[in-house]
Amino acid sequence: MDDQQFRKLLQYLGFSWRGYRKVRKGVIKRIRRHMHQLGCQNIAAYLYKLEKSHGARAECERLMTVSISRFFRDRKLWQILQMEILPGLIETHRQKIFVWSAGCASGEEVYSLKILWDDLNASIPHLPELEITATDLNPVYLERARAGVYPSSSLKEFTEQFRSAYFHTKKSMELYEIKPSLKKGIIWQTQHLLSDPTGSQFHIIFLRNNLLTYYQDRLKKPAFSKVINQLSTSGFLIIGSHERLPFERTDLVPYGSLSYVFEKRG
Ligand SMILES: C[S@@+](CC[C@H](N)C(=O)[O-])C[C@H]1O[C@@H](n2cnc3c(N)ncnc32)[C@H](O)[C@@H]1O
Repeated sequence: MDDQQFRKLLQYLGFSWRGYRKVRKGVIKRIRRHMHQLGCQNIAAYLYKLEKSHGARAECERLMTVSISRFFRDRKLWQILQMEILPGLIETHRQKIFVWSAGCASGEEVYSLKILWDDLNASIPHLPELEITATDLNPVYLERARAGVYPSSSLKEFTEQFRSAYFHTKKSMELYEIKPSLKKGIIWQTQHLLSDPTGSQFHIIFLRNNLLTYYQDRLKKPAFSKVINQLSTSGFLIIGSHERLPFERTDLVPYGSLSYVFEKRG
C-alpha cells in the first residue's frame, strides 16, 4: 500500500493525514496484513469489504490505533497537577475525585496519576478517594494496562529512586511491573469515543493524543462535544501539548500559561 492508497483509507475512515503521517509505516504494515487475511488485492477491494462487514471495519479501526505513550509525558503538566490542580480539587471535593483517562493506551498516563496521588499522600492528610475510569477502543492495550508491565523506554522520566519505589523489576531486568497497590481504584473499559454511550461526570478528563490528533473535524467535533458534556463545572480538561481544541468554547478557559489545560466555567 503506497501513501496515496493509505490516504484513501484515511479519507474513508475520517482519519487525519496530519495525525498519521509520522507513524504511518507501522500502521500500513498492520493494514497490509489485514488486507491479505481478507483476501483483498487492492485498496478498492479492502474498502468494499470494510463497507460490507462490521467486523472487518472494527478490526481495521483497532489496527489503526497508535499506542505511543510514556509515563509523565509532558513533565510540566504533571508538575502543575501536583502543585496546583490536584490540591485545589482536593480542597473542594473532600469525599471523592473522579478522573477519566480517555484513550488511555497501555495505562502509562493512568499510573502516572496514581503515582502522583501516592506522592501527595505524604504532604496532604486525609486524601479523598480517587476513582479513575480508563477507556480505550483497543482491548489489547487495555490488557497490557491491566498487567502494568513496561519496558524501560516507557519509564524515561523516572529517577532510579522513583522507579524502585513504584515498580518491581521483572526477572529479565528489562521489564518493570507496577506495584499492585497502584492498580486499585481503576476501572478499565473498552470504549469507542465516537460511538459508545457515555454518562458519568468527571473532575478531570485526560483527552491526550488521540481524538484531536487522529480524526478529521467531521468526526472529532461531535465526539469532542460529548466528552466536554462529561466534564463537571470547575473541572479540568487536559489535551495533548501539541493539540488544539477543534472549536472555540467560551466555557473552557485556558489554565495559567498552559495552552493544553482548560478549566470549565459554569
Ligand atoms: C497515542 S495513544 C495516547 C495515550 C495517552 N493518552 C497519552 O497521551 O500518552 C492513543 C490512544 O487512543 C486510543 N484511541 C484512538 N481513537 C480512539 C477512539 N475513537 N476511542 C477510544 N480510544 C481511541 C488508541 O487506541 C490509543 O491507545
